[in-house]
Amino acid sequence: MDLSGKRILLIISGGIAAYKSLDLIRRLRERGAEVRPVMTKAAQEFVTPLAVGALSSGHVYTELFSREDEQDVGHIRLARDCDLVLVAPATANLMARMAHGLADDLASTILLATDRPVLIAPAMNPKMWEAAATRRNVETLKADGISFIGPMAGEMAESNEAGLGRMAEPLQIVDAAIRMFDGGAKPLSGRKAIVTSGPTHEPIDPVRYIANRSSGRQGHAIAAALAKLGADVTLVSGPVTIPAPAGVTILHVETASEMLDAVETRLPADIAVMVAAVADWRVATSADQKIKKQPGEAPAPLLLTENPDILKTVGHHAKRPKLVVGFAAETQNIEANGRSKLERKGADMIVANDVSPQTGVMGGTRNRVKIISADGVDAWPDLGKDEVAERLAALIAERLASK
Ligand code: CTP
Repeated sequence: MDLSGKRILLIISGGIAAYKSLDLIRRLRERGAEVRPVMTKAAQEFVTPLAVGALSSGHVYTELFSREDEQDVGHIRLARDCDLVLVAPATANLMARMAHGLADDLASTILLATDRPVLIAPAMNPKMWEAAATRRNVETLKADGISFIGPMAGEMAESNEAGLGRMAEPLQIVDAAIRMFDGGAKPLSGRKAIVTSGPTHEPIDPVRYIANRSSGRQGHAIAAALAKLGADVTLVSGPVTIPAPAGVTILHVETASEMLDAVETRLPADIAVMVAAVADWRVATSADQKIKKQPGEAPAPLLLTENPDILKTVGHHAKRPKLVVGFAAETQNIEANGRSKLERKGADMIVANDVSPQTGVMGGTRNRVKIISADGVDAWPDLGKDEVAERLAALIAERLASK
């Protein structure tokens, strides 16, 4: 779908990212949208109304109390005479004014007066994005039904700080705008995803095995969250006691080798999320018969051999999925170990978590993760595993859209 015939009221507020709005106007128009720009006073410090007007080939609205503009369309009509209100960039200041219902200039008045869907693309310094006041405003705006695209992680234009705060790229904003019209078409529709989950069991003999404490909760939740966003999901699960999530194809396996085989049969795919706590080792030759105690003799030593690394195999595969996500279960040096896994395993993203016994992550229902990628590190707060899964699925959809 494109944006043919859609009338977009583009509000540009005052941040360095305003320079990207020029490209955004071009991209929106390329897809057939009609763009009517509104600029705040601060926005005009970054780009000129002349440039914005030239690209949108129309009038640029800047003043609440402009006699001509008010006679021409008037701010109430401006607020209603469109199919979407898009704010890009949305500064912390404009978001705060929106959250509090202020109407002290043309942009904020339109945002208060409009009855149209509103999509905003925040852009600000990472510290401002993280600030408690901004967190509150974001929650308020979301509860008010405002849609968000971004902010993204990465280097800031004005400083060498990195983190969450960069405005989404114009094409990502265009995609988000299209999704707003698509009746909420699911962002992962038509995408194939493979998720591994749970522990593996490596047999010692017919009755004994090597295992770990993984419950499969996080992996299963991620499979469910990807399916909710429209992906065609295959969940390759080790032995778990939790139920299979709805809407996914589940393949049950026991050992790491079986898990690898199952994953490979599902390639090619767009997304691979390797969450399973795969046993690193298996018994070199598991016994065919139960190993018996021999009175007076020392127990038979277990000779271990390394299991295939499923994530690494997928990360370097001839049919490598476009987006490969791994987990890093660590008990120390979480970030450094996570980064080295990103490299070594050929992943695009590592979800690193602290699984020290005192955290209760292994087998528990909560998780505190850090998202490590080439863009940097993003530390998420302590969340339920379902919430981590939902956020991760949304991030995957976003990253895939920008690839
Ligand atoms: N993984 C895998 N196959 C393996 C081992 C791990 O697919 N044989 C995947 C896990 O699913 C996870 C990631 O690799 O996504 C990291 O797992 P982790 O156990 O933390 O890392 P290891 O490779 O075991 O590294 P180390 O032992 O050095 O911590």
